[in-house]
This record gives sequence, C-alpha cells and structure tokens, in this order.
Amino acid sequence: MQPLPSFDEQLEAALAAGPAVLSFVFGVPPAAVVEAAHRRGIRVVGAATTVPEARALADGGMDAIVVTGLEAAGHRPAFLAEPERGLVGGLALIPQVVDAVDVPVIAAGGIADRRGVAAAFALGAAGVQVGSAFLATRQSAAPAVHRERIRTADAHETVLTRAMSGRAARGLPNRAVRTIEQAGGRASFPLQNILTGAFRRRAAELGDPELLSLWMGQAAGLAHFDDAAEVFAELAAGIPDARS
Ligand SMILES: Cc1cc2nc3c(=O)[nH]c(=O)nc-3n(C[C@H](O)[C@H](O)[C@H](O)COP(=O)(O)O)c2cc1C
Repeated sequence: MQPLPSFDEQLEAALAAGPAVLSFVFGVPPAAVVEAAHRRGIRVVGAATTVPEARALADGGMDAIVVTGLEAAGHRPAFLAEPERGLVGGLALIPQVVDAVDVPVIAAGGIADRRGVAAAFALGAAGVQVGSAFLATRQSAAPAVHRERIRTADAHETVLTRAMSGRAARGLPNRAVRTIEQAGGRASFPLQNILTGAFRRRAAELGDPELLSLWMGQAAGLAHFDDAAEVFAELAAGIPDARS
C-alpha cells in the first residue's frame, strides 16, 4: 500500500510550484533538497522542539527555524529524541534557541492573540506561526464541531496522544482517544492516521466530536474569532513597531 505520495513526488510538486518558502517537519531535509530549493530562490524552514534539534537544522542550511513549544497543537515535529522527552514550553525554549543559532527563529505554540505575539518577539523571535486560532475560524476546513470545541476548550484539557495518528500530537481527548489508549495497541504513523480516517470521515459528516481528531493547542481558549482576517489583524497588533 502507498498511503501518501512519496517524499520525492511531494518535493517535485512543491519545487515546481515555486513558493517563497518551503517548510519541513520531522527532521533535517537532505542537503540536495536544500540546494535544489536555494537554486530556485526558495527559502527553507525546519521545525525544532529542542536546542539540539535547532542546531542540527541550522547546520543543515535552514534559512529560519520554527521553534515548537509544548503548547502547540497537532504533531510534535521532534526528530532527535522521542517527542515526549522534548516537552519544553515556549517561554523557556524560544530564547535558548535564539541564543544557540544565527538564523531567524519563528515561535510556534500557544500564540493566539497580540499578547502572545508581543511575548514571542520580546523573547527574540523574528516571527510567529499560529495554528489553533486559525483552525477555529470559518475559513478552516475543520468540521464545525471541532472549531466549536477549540473555542470552548481550557488550557489544561489538551493532551499529547499517539492514539489517532501513531505520532505524538496535541489535541482534546475524546472517546476515540480513550478507547484506543485503553486497548493498548495501534499502528505506527502514518498508517494509524489512515485507519482512524475511516471513522473520522463519517464522524465529521455526523458532527460527532467523540470520533474526530480534535487537534488544538493550549491557547485554544484564546481563539475567539470566527474570521481569519480578524485573527490576522489581532496577531499583527502584537508585532513591535519596527521604528521603535
Ligand atoms: C491540524 C493541524 C495540522 C498541522 N499541520 C502542520 C504541517 O503540515 N506543517 C507544519 O509545519 N505545522 C503543522 N501544524 C502546526 C502548526 O503550523 C503550528 O505550529 C501549531 O499549530 C502552533 O500551535 P498553536 O496551535 O498553539 O498555534 C499543524 C497544526 C494543526 C493543528
């Protein structure tokens, strides 16, 4: 079974599209890939969950590094150690990575309003990457019940689980997560994701949040806006004035 297009096929399509930035998760892209992107004027970004991962990415020629604090929604992009062993919060991780590498740092995890953006810049980040706040908006492809759960979740409610995809990811626990964890067995990534997809699709149609992957980060409760443009304006208000 070929569950996803191969890395080479995906890369070929991405390079042909000619984006300004190509970003990678789950490791350092091979040197030939970085060179191919750079030859086309495409900047390359990698994601780190620890200082050693950030150093490895910088050594691998990344133009910027996404620093993913433990607060972040979705999959942990860890690659040098098990994701559960690299759970560092953004407040501690961002400045340590800023000190460790010479390339710009993009802060990710727990940022959902102007205060989070201002804090990330104060810690030395040059930009932010935001997931949950956009996932909650009407422009998101997430099912309506998922968007609604993001808006009503509290910071303490999310968990890291491998139940739904086979890889550690942060989301809201539900019946599917509890049942799979109690069963004690599951496939590895990405097969587990494909297997749970069989019931997640139907659950989305039925609007049943108990059988969905309810990915969201610890700042989900700050995701108040229904419109992505409002989220963008709110976040932009936290960027320090470049003239000051
Ligand atoms: C459903 C979902 C899918 C994601 N897919 C990707 C992805 O393909 N590549 C990536 O770099 N980050 C991905 N992320 C991570 C986000 O880009 C971002 O780093 C993260 O959501 C930040 O945490 P926040 O939700 O607290 O803002 C995903 C996040 C979610 C919730």
